[in-house]
This record gives sequence, C-alpha cells and structure tokens, in this order.
Amino acid sequence: MTDLFSFIDDQHDQDAKIITQMRLLIDALKKHNHAYYVLDNPSISDGEYDSLRQKLLDLESQFPTLKQPDSPTDKVGDKPLPAFTQVMHDIAMLSLGNVFNFDELTAFIRRINDRLDSKNQHPEFEMELKLDGLAVSLKYVHGVFHQAVTRGDGRVGEDITHNVRTIRNLPQVLPACADIALLEVRGEVLMPKAGFEKLNRESAERGEKTFANPRNAAAGSLRQLNPAIASARPLAFFGYSVNQGLPSHITTQSGALEYLRSLGFETAPFGTAATPKGVQDFYENIAKTRADLPFEIDGVVVKVNSLDLQNDLGFLSREPRWATAYKFAAESAITRLVAVEWQVGRTGQLTPVGKLEPINVGGVTVSNVTLHNFGEIGRLGLMAGDMVSIHRAGDVIPKVSGVVLEMRDGAVSPIHLPKTCPVCESAVVLPEGEALARCTGGLYCPAQSKEALVHFVSRRAMDIDGLGEQWLIKFFEMGLIRTVADIYELVQHQDHLMTLEGLGEKSVNNMLAAIEKSKNTTLPRFIFALGIRGVGESTALNLAQHFADFEAIRRASADDFLTVPDVGEITAQSIHEFFQSTHNSEVIDRLLGAGVVWQAVQVSEAEAPLDGQTWVVTGTLSVMGRDEAKAHLQALGAKVSGSVSAKTSVLLAGEKAGSKLDKATQLGVNIVQEDEFVQLLMTHGRLSNDG
Ligand code: IVH
Repeated sequence: MTDLFSFIDDQHDQDAKIITQMRLLIDALKKHNHAYYVLDNPSISDGEYDSLRQKLLDLESQFPTLKQPDSPTDKVGDKPLPAFTQVMHDIAMLSLGNVFNFDELTAFIRRINDRLDSKNQHPEFEMELKLDGLAVSLKYVHGVFHQAVTRGDGRVGEDITHNVRTIRNLPQVLPACADIALLEVRGEVLMPKAGFEKLNRESAERGEKTFANPRNAAAGSLRQLNPAIASARPLAFFGYSVNQGLPSHITTQSGALEYLRSLGFETAPFGTAATPKGVQDFYENIAKTRADLPFEIDGVVVKVNSLDLQNDLGFLSREPRWATAYKFAAESAITRLVAVEWQVGRTGQLTPVGKLEPINVGGVTVSNVTLHNFGEIGRLGLMAGDMVSIHRAGDVIPKVSGVVLEMRDGAVSPIHLPKTCPVCESAVVLPEGEALARCTGGLYCPAQSKEALVHFVSRRAMDIDGLGEQWLIKFFEMGLIRTVADIYELVQHQDHLMTLEGLGEKSVNNMLAAIEKSKNTTLPRFIFALGIRGVGESTALNLAQHFADFEAIRRASADDFLTVPDVGEITAQSIHEFFQSTHNSEVIDRLLGAGVVWQAVQVSEAEAPLDGQTWVVTGTLSVMGRDEAKAHLQALGAKVSGSVSAKTSVLLAGEKAGSKLDKATQLGVNIVQEDEFVQLLMTHGRLSNDG
C-alpha cells in the first residue's frame, strides 16, 4: 500500500523543497529591495541581485502553480519612504527588460518584427546610454519647473522637488516656445564620476561615511529633507523621454531627444540603426568608451524609434515591448558552490578549487574558481553547497567574494582539508598559523617531481652538470625518471638513451659519467638537494654541522631541529615531516643504495671559531655566491652584517669591491681576500680540496 501512494509523498517533498527555495529567494530579494530602494545602501551588487531574481523567475516559470503570492518578481522598486509626500504618477513609470548578448538582442528584435509583420513594417531602432542613476519624472507647468517625483514602486513615488530644484543643469524655466500647460519629462539624476570621487574624498577626510558608488551617492542626495545638502552635491539631470506635452509634429524618440535639447535639457549621446548589426555596433562602440565617459552607465537602451509603433507594441506587465536594456555583462553574480577539489602545486602546496554551477560573469562562463588556500575557506566561512558571490572585473581571474548566508539551506556540508595528498597519498600538513597546506611527499609526489628533479641536479645541490634540465624533463615525461632516485638508475637505460634523437653515444656516456661523479658529494649538498621546505644551503650546512650524521638527522624529532642555529619552529616541523614520510624515506634509501656518499663531516674542535666577530661580504666571489659565503661564516660563529662600520671585524672583499672596501680601509678594518677565506674554510673543514 505504501508503495502505491509513495509518489504522492515524493511529489509533496519535491513541492516543499521548491517552495523553500522560493521563500529563501523571496526573503533575500525583499531584504535587498529595501536596502536598495529605501535605504539607498545596497548590500549586494546589481549583478548579484539579478542572479537571485533570475533564479526565482526560473523556478516560477518551471513551477507556476507554486508561485508565491508575494513574489517580488512582478513588482518594480519598493514602497516609498514615508517622510516625503507621496505622488501618484499620471502614467506608470515602468522598468525595462534585459538582453545580454547578440542572440538575445536578435530575439528581442525578431519578436518586435513578428508582432509588426501584419503591418509590413520594419522598425528603425534608436539607441541611448543606459545611465546608472535614478529615474525621476519632472513636470513643467506653462514652461516653469513645478514638481519632481521619484519612480517609487512605479505607481506612486516621492516628491523630491526641493532637492531636484538645486540641480545645476536643470532648466528652471523653459524657452517661450514650450509654453505648454503641462510638460512631463523623464530622465535620470546621476552624479558624475569626478564629483563622486571628490565628494567621497572630502567625506573621508572629515571622517564621515562614504558612498559605495555614484548611484548610491545620487540617491542619498535626493533623499535629503534639507535641500541645502542636495544643493552641495554634484548632481546632474539627463532627459530621456517626453511623456506628456510632446508637440504632435514630433513622431520619433530621437526627435523627442532633440526637442529636449532645444528646450535646454541635457541628454546623453544617442544613435539610430535599422538592423541588429547596427544596434550591435553602437553597443560595442559604447562598451569601448565606457571607462572614458564622465558618468557611469550599465548598458545601452534600445528603443523602437517611431512613437506610433511604440504605441502599437504596448506593454507587458512591467516593461515595454518596444524597448529593452542591452546590458553590459555584470561583474558579479551568485551561483552554487557544488564541491571543492584540491590541486597540488609544483612545490607541494594544496590549493582548493571551487566547482561551481556554471554562471556567466563579466561575459564569461565560470565553472571553476580558485579558493587560494584552506585559510581562505575559513575566512569566507564557506560550506560545500553554499550560494556564493562570484566577482570578475575586466580580465582579472574570478574570485569568490562572499557567501550568501540567507540562502543557506540544510544541504550544505563543511569543507575539510584532505588528510592525504590527492596525487600521491602522502600525509598533508597545515603548519600552525599558516594558511597553506602542503603535501609532505616532496621527493615522491608526481605533482612536485619536476621541481624536485630540477633542484636535485642543480649546481649548488648534486651538481649534475651533464644532465641538463631539458633532458631531465624529457626523461620525466617519457616515464624513464619518476623520482630523483631514478636518476642513478638511468644507466640501465643506456641503450635506449642512445637511440633518442639528439643524444649520441658520446653524450649519453658524458651524461652517465656526470651522474656517476655526483654520487661523491658532501652532506650539506645532499641535504640541500632533497629540497626540504625551508632548508636552503645555509640551513643544510647547519644541519650537517650540528648532527654530523645523516641517520641522526633522519631520526631526529622536531624539537631536536630547534636546537640547530637558524632553524625556527616552522622549518623544524617541515624537516621532521619530510623525513617522517615513508614515501620520501623510500626514495632516500634508494639514493643511498645507489651509492651516494660523502666524506665524514669534520666538526671543528672549536664549535664557533669566529665567535664574536662581525663580517661584511662585498664584491664578487669566484668559488661561491655571497649567500653561501655568509652561511659558512655564520656556521663558524661569525655575525654577518650588510654595512661596514667601526664594529666590523673583517671585510671579505671579492672582485670589484667598491665603496665598502674604501670605507673599511678608512676605518682600518681587517680585509680578507677570497683565497685567504677559502683557506680558512678548508682549515675548519667546511670545504675540501676539490671544491
Ligand atoms: S527608458 C518604460 N532610457 O533604466 C521604460 N531608461 O531598467 C522607460 N534608464 O527606470 C525607461 N537610462 O531609470 C530609459 N536612456 C534610458 C535610460 C533608462 C537609464 C533607467 C531608468 C529606468 C531603468 C529601467
């Protein structure tokens, strides 16, 4: 029996789910409507708002029977503020539909052509800038400015005459030719970019609140009860339509704009076109010059130019059929974070990558977004399944700018850092206080192999001169080498190597000889070659000096490493984790098994023979870099300083030593040349005769 009726339950569950989603969207939209229209302080961007509204529209068209009675999708704006006198519009102030690309534009034009087909008319289009300000309706009675009303909810707006009167470019009295009983002009009040920046700069200097963007600044200015405040704000009015009192000989939208100009109104640039391609060209040109315009726009408005045809086409519930907004792609949108995947970088860092429900942001479909590191996930408070804001400005890579918490439902789950590397399954660590998690299998992990190989053979590491980076990478890609231990087994592939293009018998022999020779090394070089995070040449040297024995290093605890000069907690931890990895251990055992050896480290009797001395290194050294020289000096107990002073004990002067040498001579500082320095290092067992 239960089976028979289970579909009813299923249906019920499904409906309940859809209604929950609708309610979440409706509540969010209502909240944002209020913030935007009433408080002039939007909490999300237009693009984000539009993506929420679109999601609700999609649900409503898919499940029309579940549409909620209070859905904001068929309403414009919000209830007006009670502080202002409410005024009913003679003609409703409606909104515009949107198109976002050429296909949608073509579809919009096709719908118009289809509707007008019976009349065999092919309308001309008029294109304007879509100004990013606030719509207002102005009334002139017998040519004198009389009243200004906001759009409000489209039917009833607020009387803001006192503020609009202060706008500089607004004609207060029209020329005699416009002595008409009633003229209604609609247009946009906006704040030019330059004025906006100046206003915000000055507010910031006074420690007052700044506005998020010019449109909010314009809205905030118009919402003032005291006109003196609006008067001090750099506002401007641009007319875009004549809704009452247009002389009857004017029959087009472009004609109406010219008429407005003749009356002294400012209008934004406009054009006309007969084909979708012509409209597109206008749009693209405007998109190119957008940044140079003195005010902000968010697209182009495309209107049927003939006022008669506009009349024939009429209106849909909240927007005209004869016009649409061809919007620039929004730079922000909201979509669902479906899951998080972890990528392993070439140095072992784990980067979380968000998998998104694909969404168009800034004209590009985004389905993956980097979340940078585990710390960022915590900072954003992200959960898998969350709705997130995606931001992408210009060519900048998209990023998650926040979670839409009010959209969070039961279907979210926490995002955990993986315990093991998704590539090689070595342990993953997240050092305390750090944002970046890492794979500990540095020598083994395929994601890190290339980096590890190149470092291993480099001059200051194992110094395998005959095995160039190009060949190394080639062998890696051919699968001949996977880890650094495989380098010492290349000899088994000798015959195969000789058949490779660009490698003859001679070069293979040279290469193998170089590899063989590198087996004789020093402990510091070997430690450095392992590429342990945080272990550069000087730390490698200190480790070798301190422990003298490699096996002791492998066995040491993190605390043991803390007693080594220059090793802090993070490095101590990282060295310990490196040797703890069984994967790394296998590679190390193979290296030793292949015959990598070093002379026993001679720990000098005096642990720190240069103790108490301050050295300065200058000029070019021929046998080592300055950093290496510094590391040797420090290991011998000297302090190394960057500048010569009375406190300097010794100046190590390489080739082309300049002003430091002069200063040292002046101060009578002891000057040591490179050969003398090398002698000193050999005496203390830090260099052997063969280098
Ligand atoms: S015409 C019947 N022209 O866009 C619709 N509107 O989304 C008449 N807007 O509330 C609007 N520039 O605030 C029109 N050149 C322009 C416009 C424009 C900006 C705004 C206006 C309107 C909104 C519609």
